[in-house]
Amino acid sequence: MTRKIPFLRPAPPKLSELGGQLAKIEASGIFSNYGPVNTDLEQSLVRELFSGNGSCLTVCNATIGLMLAIRLAIGVKPDRSRRYALMPSFTFAATAHAAIWAGLTPLLCDIEPDSWLPAHSAQRQLLDQYGSEVAAIVPYATFGNNLDLGFYDGLAKEYGIPVVVDAAASLGSLGDDGNTFGTGFRHPLIYSMHVTKTFATSEAGLIYCADASVISTLRAMGNFGFDHPRTATMPGLNSKLSEVAALLALRKLQGFDKVVRYRLHLVQIYQKLLPEWTFQRRVGRSEAYQFVSVLPPGRHSGQREYFLERLQREGIGFGRYFDPHLAAQPYFRELSVCGELKETSRIANQIMSLPLSDSMTPADVTRVCEILQDACG
Ligand SMILES: Cc1ncc(COP(=O)(O)O)c(C=O)c1O
Repeated sequence: MTRKIPFLRPAPPKLSELGGQLAKIEASGIFSNYGPVNTDLEQSLVRELFSGNGSCLTVCNATIGLMLAIRLAIGVKPDRSRRYALMPSFTFAATAHAAIWAGLTPLLCDIEPDSWLPAHSAQRQLLDQYGSEVAAIVPYATFGNNLDLGFYDGLAKEYGIPVVVDAAASLGSLGDDGNTFGTGFRHPLIYSMHVTKTFATSEAGLIYCADASVISTLRAMGNFGFDHPRTATMPGLNSKLSEVAALLALRKLQGFDKVVRYRLHLVQIYQKLLPEWTFQRRVGRSEAYQFVSVLPPGRHSGQREYFLERLQREGIGFGRYFDPHLAAQPYFRELSVCGELKETSRIANQIMSLPLSDSMTPADVTRVCEILQDACG
């Protein structure tokens, strides 16, 4: 019988190998509240992923991290005339939910046709139209691709609007300078360490910012808004990461660069064996691929479901990220304002997410590609 290939095969550190460290947490009597394992994790992440530059704060997941950072961006007493959060429609529900929880209306822009990143021209056009009503710019670094952060720093200065970057899939992606995407950026970036991500733990997220004072305010907000013991001085919620979850992340950091490199190697095989298929144009040095997103060759552009059916028949898992995109989901459509979404609709209608995991082999990738090529006829 042929081997099934799941779409994702989560690879968090093995719980069964953490017995000694779990016993240590138990003996310490400290299970949360920015404890010693969490402190070690934050310091290790800054040192090993961000070249010792800037600060970071762990959160219980990236959705809560986005909520906190957007809430801080709009201020303790928000200016109610600024009601929009500019973001792409081609993103996951969490980006829009976080803005809505902060009392904002998503203002949805289109994406670039090749990198699938938020389109510069579309964002500028919406800022020119709605600028005085926009509270925050929330770009998504699509599938871990590298955004041009200089462009966003420029927008923040030109329009006087804060930026919060949804970098959910970017932990491990490297910019042109070889540093982790986001290193040195003065606006907060939020990364996910969910079990399905390349940096797989269980539930966890990370906020990074070059400005330590932003991280320190977010830390207080994430602890009920307590700046002083048990006295709330700002908006707050509980976003703290448990010591057990921090331990998983600390262990995942060991050998993480190898995980990213291996996945990149598998993606290169996909690219070689599917020469007529469209892959996301990569910006920057490398991307920490979570899965592999492709569009069928032009002559098969309306046949996504046929290809997916072929994969299903052969026991190959897949996804359709992000179809439906935000504006195609009833809840968000009702609550959002949309710019033109031509590229978003075109890509969302065709996109196929192909399997990738740490335990997939080059032979597995070859098999997936052979099925797709065979289906092309
Ligand atoms: C674009 C985007 N933003 C935010 C999130 C939320 O991450 P988390 O699951 O850690 O809350 C995800 C999760 O997949 C995502 O894809």
